[in-house]
Amino acid sequence: MSYRTGHFEKGIDTLAEEFNSSLSVDKRLYREDIEASIAHAKMLGKCGIIPEADAERIAASLNSIKSDIENGILAVENAEDIHMFVEVELTRRIGDAAKRLHTARSRNDHVATDFKLYVRNSCESVSDLLYALIDALTDLAEENFDTYMPGFTHLQKAQPITAAHYLMAYAEMFYRDLTRFRDCKKRLNVLPLGSGALAGTTYPIDRKYVAELLGFDRVSNNSLDGVSDRDFVSEYLYSASNTMLHLSRFSEEIILFSSSDYGYLSVDEAYSTGSSIMPQKRNPDIAELVRGKTGRVFGGLTAILTLIKGLPLAYNKDMQEDKEIFFDAEDTLFSVLKVFTGMITTVTFHKARLIEACGSGYLNATDAADYLVANRAIPFRTAYEIVGALVAYASSKKIPLDRLTLDEFNAYHGKSEAKKIEFESLKSGGLFDKDIYSKIDIKNIVNARLTDGGPSKAAVKKSIKDLKKRLLNC
Ligand code: ARG
Repeated sequence: MSYRTGHFEKGIDTLAEEFNSSLSVDKRLYREDIEASIAHAKMLGKCGIIPEADAERIAASLNSIKSDIENGILAVENAEDIHMFVEVELTRRIGDAAKRLHTARSRNDHVATDFKLYVRNSCESVSDLLYALIDALTDLAEENFDTYMPGFTHLQKAQPITAAHYLMAYAEMFYRDLTRFRDCKKRLNVLPLGSGALAGTTYPIDRKYVAELLGFDRVSNNSLDGVSDRDFVSEYLYSASNTMLHLSRFSEEIILFSSSDYGYLSVDEAYSTGSSIMPQKRNPDIAELVRGKTGRVFGGLTAILTLIKGLPLAYNKDMQEDKEIFFDAEDTLFSVLKVFTGMITTVTFHKARLIEACGSGYLNATDAADYLVANRAIPFRTAYEIVGALVAYASSKKIPLDRLTLDEFNAYHGKSEAKKIEFESLKSGGLFDKDIYSKIDIKNIVNARLTDGGPSKAAVKKSIKDLKKRLLNC
């Protein structure tokens, strides 16, 4: 049933009616719709715009409609949208008093209010899910301070880190995501109701009272903006996209690191599946699906931006599309966060394989150069060249740096005669001593990186403490 008054002579075309209806999508807003209507009715009663007794009857009946929907007694169907459904049902239940509810209100300011209430709750729920994920990562990190592993740049082994350090990198990303949802919630918390269709109302309404009842920080300052603003949807979807982006990068690494060639970690069987043909396979489907579903949420962000970008002020029916886009992204984000958190708690890092992986790829080359800088006052660029030649030499012998003899360390391995002369002159001050071996030991390399944000156990512990403190205050 669509909303048609006396000036229509014909009924609406059946296909047009179906096309115009948003009930199948926006029925998800029934709670918020009723909450906003109760606040509006109370305000109308308090301001003497409708009789107080009617306001009370409206509120009571709206509450019973809500519980009937929740208990499955009342089916939400046969209306253009959720706002019409509730109003028609209310009228069916209490008659004339119900017909006073839509005084000083339009569906335009009503739908904006309902949707803001919904998105506000969603910001809270997603924050809870992000907290749980950050907690899971922190717990796993605390078990892996001493799990040494290669760190990469360009997907080439670069320098050693620990699994704790690696996991906490993602915890920091999810913390930023959490703050984005918090900001989104703060910014959206401005009441549109009272903006009317677009130009406010002549009734002596009390918008501040409605804002108070619904928990909004203040009322919107411009009625055209009040009904047209959908920034809160795009901001939420941007925040959701960023969260998905982080989850997708993480998933990519879980897929890579759990592959048989890497063998760095494994995910519990409960989160893997087999192949229908290859008996040996254990596939990381959950991580792959998380990566795959990321595109859907990015799509939602693009869709909402495209939807709004050409709309003249104020309300346009195009905006009805905003909810379907939002709900799909929200559902995706929630299910992904829940299953990903479950999966991550089952991850085991394979310590022996990881330390073995640190033994190839010359992860300690930078530290060999740093040794010359620290102990021999050799400029870093010169030290870098000396160690570059050493790495080339060790690599030609297919051995790691720590298997070179001290004589080999102290020999010139480069090709340039001029550099050789420079090298000999540096050497007179002494180059490598026995202590080079402990300086380039993987565990020592990691734990010497004590600077804030570094991978040493002490630094990671400090970062975790700092993150926990920030989480308490956000
Ligand atoms: N179902 C509509 C929506 O979601 C409600 C607002 C309708 N307003 C209007 N002027 N037709 O956007």
